[in-house]
This record gives sequence, structure tokens and C-alpha cells, in this order.
Amino acid sequence: MNTIKKVAVLAGDGIGPEVIAEGLKVLHVLADALSITLETHDALIGGVAYEATGTPLPEETVTIAKDCEVVLLGAVGDFKYDTLPPHLRPEQGLLGIRKALNLYANTRPVKAYDALLDASTLKPDVITGVDLLVVRELTGGLYFGQPKVQNENDAVDTLTYTRAEIERIAKTAFELAQQRRKQLCSVDKANVLATSRLWRDVVDAMAPQYPDVAVSHMYVDNAAMQLILNPRQFDVMLTENTFGDILSDEASMLTGSLGMLSSASFGTGSYALYEPSHGSAPTIAGQNIANPIATILSVKELVAVSWEAPDLANLVDVAIENVLAQGLRTKDIAQAGDTVVGTREMGDAIASALKSLTSSYSSVV
Ligand code: IPM
Ligand code: MG
Repeated sequence: MNTIKKVAVLAGDGIGPEVIAEGLKVLHVLADALSITLETHDALIGGVAYEATGTPLPEETVTIAKDCEVVLLGAVGDFKYDTLPPHLRPEQGLLGIRKALNLYANTRPVKAYDALLDASTLKPDVITGVDLLVVRELTGGLYFGQPKVQNENDAVDTLTYTRAEIERIAKTAFELAQQRRKQLCSVDKANVLATSRLWRDVVDAMAPQYPDVAVSHMYVDNAAMQLILNPRQFDVMLTENTFGDILSDEASMLTGSLGMLSSASFGTGSYALYEPSHGSAPTIAGQNIANPIATILSVKELVAVSWEAPDLANLVDVAIENVLAQGLRTKDIAQAGDTVVGTREMGDAIASALKSLTSSYSSVV
């Protein structure tokens, strides 16, 4: 049966368009394997949207995203917008679309690929076998709390969380832990922050509903240290918005590069947004050197969750492993002796490895 699936494509700024192009190659291979006709709808976000329309998140973009329900996003931001008023900065486009679609649950899987163990700054024996998931609250906390003001000599950001906001993200984390190794580490700063004490109370109150999940709590400063001391201890890490932003960048280095970390965000309905965790990297934009793997892994999540084809999606991992095993590397993950390839070549290699893998998949479904 041939079904049509829509995906809103928000390539954004910097390396965004380059990595999205490679992600789309892979998405087309997966669509073919599922006999899906892929309909992509491009829309503007970030600096490019500001240039074209005067706002980083045009109304039309929100409309297209809501109509498609599934969004694939590149990256936003450029130093040249640093002096714009806060509400016009590219980042507001990203925060705005997350809020507009009510995407409160952000998941960032961190997996150490054997072929990349030497690419990390950490010792191979520390990162071998790392397989953890950061579950980050995405629409609350310091990012959105009011008041938020900057005056000449003082400034305020507000850290606020309601019980309901904590419950819904904790529910996501508990359920994901149930599908994994059943360990949930909730990260907070309950020795100092009131929001963290509420966070801890809520998680503890919910724990009896998930008797199969082992719950622990960890202060965020300790969590930052434990991530590089002994990352294999973690399965699911549950965090509020700001802590998750920081810890997920840190955790990405366990994979060898921020260019390997995908990100998927969900709300209550079928809205979902898939994006690499990295930024727009304007200094390397347009040079065909960015690593497209984070975006390709985000496409994998799209197919696993929004298209409900997790077995097929897992072949993306196999394809990446095969390509890495051939010694192909983008610059950020290259070691002496590797073949350094560009963004496009890496995307082509993964798409073609995936095509071979999916041809046998298609014949069995
Ligand atoms: C991320 C990014 C964003 C965030 C920025 C670009 C607003 O760092 O997705 O981690 O802080 O959430
Ligand atoms: Mg970040």
C-alpha cells in the first residue's frame, strides 16, 4: 500500500541546509523501503527567515509545521545576528517552534560507536559500550520563565516549573526507561534550587507506578563529572531544560563528536521535531566539511517513532557502522589513516549502504 507522508523541512542557517540535504537522501531510501511517498514542505526559520520576512519564525512556518506534524530541522544562528534585539535572534525561531508545537519532551541518544572510540578525547576504555539517553524538558525552566529582562545594570531570568510540567516529562522518561535497561537517573540541584526540590518530590511520587524502573537522583554538578568518569553507569538521564542543554553537549563527546548527536522532540499529539543537537557552525558553513551523521540519526528517529518503523530505522545504525568500518570519516571524527570525506560524500555513502540493507528488508515485508 502506498501512503503519503508529509515532512516539514526547516533547513535554517549555517551548515543546516548541507546536513539536511544528506538527511533527506537517507529519508528517501527509508520511504522507498516502506513504499511511502515522501512529500517535503520547505519553510524558513532562524536567520534566513529573519532576512526574508523580518522575523525568525514566520507564521507560515508554524502553519506548515502543524500541517505536516513532522518537522526535520537543520540549525539556526549566526554571529552576525548577535546584536539583534533578543526576540529577533535566530534562536528564538527554534525556541518558538518548540513552544508552538508544545514539544516538551526532548530525547538525545548517546551511543559510542566502536569505530570512533579513538575519535573521542576520552579514553576508549571509558567510553566503550556507552549507550545512554538524555531526556530533557524542553518548553519550561529558565528558557521561557517570566519575567525575563535585561536592563543596563541588572538582568533577570526566571526558573519556574509546575508539578504538571515535571510529571509529563518524568512520565516520558519512566516509559523510555521501561523500554531500555530500566534505570532512571533524575538530575537536579535539589541542594540549592526550589524547582529541583519539587522535581525530586514529583519523580519520587511517581516511582511506585514504575516498579520495574530503578530510580536514582544526582546533583547536576556531580552528573557532569560522572558522565566523563563512568558514563556506562547511565541508562536514561532525566533533566530540566538548561541542565539537559549543557549535559547533552557534554555527553556528545562520549560519541567522539557533537556531529554524532541526534535530537527528537515530542509533545502530546503527533507533532514531532527532529534535528541534530549541534548548532549552525557558521565558520564551516558551505564548505562541505560538516558531519551529517547527527541529522541522519535524527532521520532514523523520525522513521522509528513518527513512521512507526523501528526495525527498519535500526538499519540506519548498521549503515553508519558499515561506512565507518570502511574508514570513511568527516573531518571532525577523523584520525590518522582515515579517509576524510565531505558532507555530501558521507551522506552518499550512508544512503547507499542503507539502500543495500533495505533491499533485503523490503523483500521480507
Ligand atoms: C540545543 C541548542 C538550543 C538550545 C539553542 C540553539 C537555542 O543549544 O538544541 O541544544 O539551547 O536548546
Ligand atoms: Mg544545546
